[in-house]
Amino acid sequence: MKIVSAKDYNDMSRKAANIISAQVIMKPGCVLGLATGGTPVGTYKQLIDWYNKGDIDFSEVTTINLDEYRGLKRDHEQSYWYFMHDNFFNYVNVPEENIHVPDGANPDSDEACREYEEIIRKAGGIDLQLLGIGTDGHIGFNEPGEAFELRTHCVDLTESTIKSNTRFFGSEGEVPKQAYTMGIKSIMQARKVLMVVNGENKADIVKAALFGPVTPEVPASILQMHPDFTIVGDEAAFSKIKDLI
Ligand code: PGA
Repeated sequence: MKIVSAKDYNDMSRKAANIISAQVIMKPGCVLGLATGGTPVGTYKQLIDWYNKGDIDFSEVTTINLDEYRGLKRDHEQSYWYFMHDNFFNYVNVPEENIHVPDGANPDSDEACREYEEIIRKAGGIDLQLLGIGTDGHIGFNEPGEAFELRTHCVDLTESTIKSNTRFFGSEGEVPKQAYTMGIKSIMQARKVLMVVNGENKADIVKAALFGPVTPEVPASILQMHPDFTIVGDEAAFSKIKDLI
């Protein structure tokens, strides 16, 4: 486990983008596992900036996103497909056919998840998986209590996630109740894992995930066992582990 301290959100984003950039330079045809959420947005912005300067080329890259709401079409403004285009893909040259997000529009969850695992397998596995972390330790949509051995599967969103997502959807009735997510096993099979984390509200969970017991109650804690795991965090997120690193 490598712990990389950053001063603030911008510094975290630049350091994470540097690691992704190094991956793309070393292996131009690499497979990047990508994540949604507020934390990685700055990382995507930095990569877009370097792309515009001609410093990075995504023309041979394949991307595989962590998760998607079940029941949303790609063009829905709250879909993760939309989010990724809005924050990254519309501004760089990843070929459209190389972009993969679980098919939220497929109501057959077994088929959607099986097909997604097949996409990962055919791509040759994930070289670098980018992750955020939830305040409860979730990674992707793998909430506390999820079995470590699961691959891509359908999850019921927790009541608190549905409530907190209501602000993006008009009314609670419109919030999707389920999602397709890579499982912990799919994530652990990535050759490198890169987590980004910022802010005081993540300080407790960072300590529990990195230095607490490895337990399904803290899904991110399994990353302690990953052979090539790097976490980049700002001062606030690392404020409870400063004496341990
Ligand atoms: P955030 O989400 O980056 O918006 O904090 C992280 C996550 O829930 O994985």
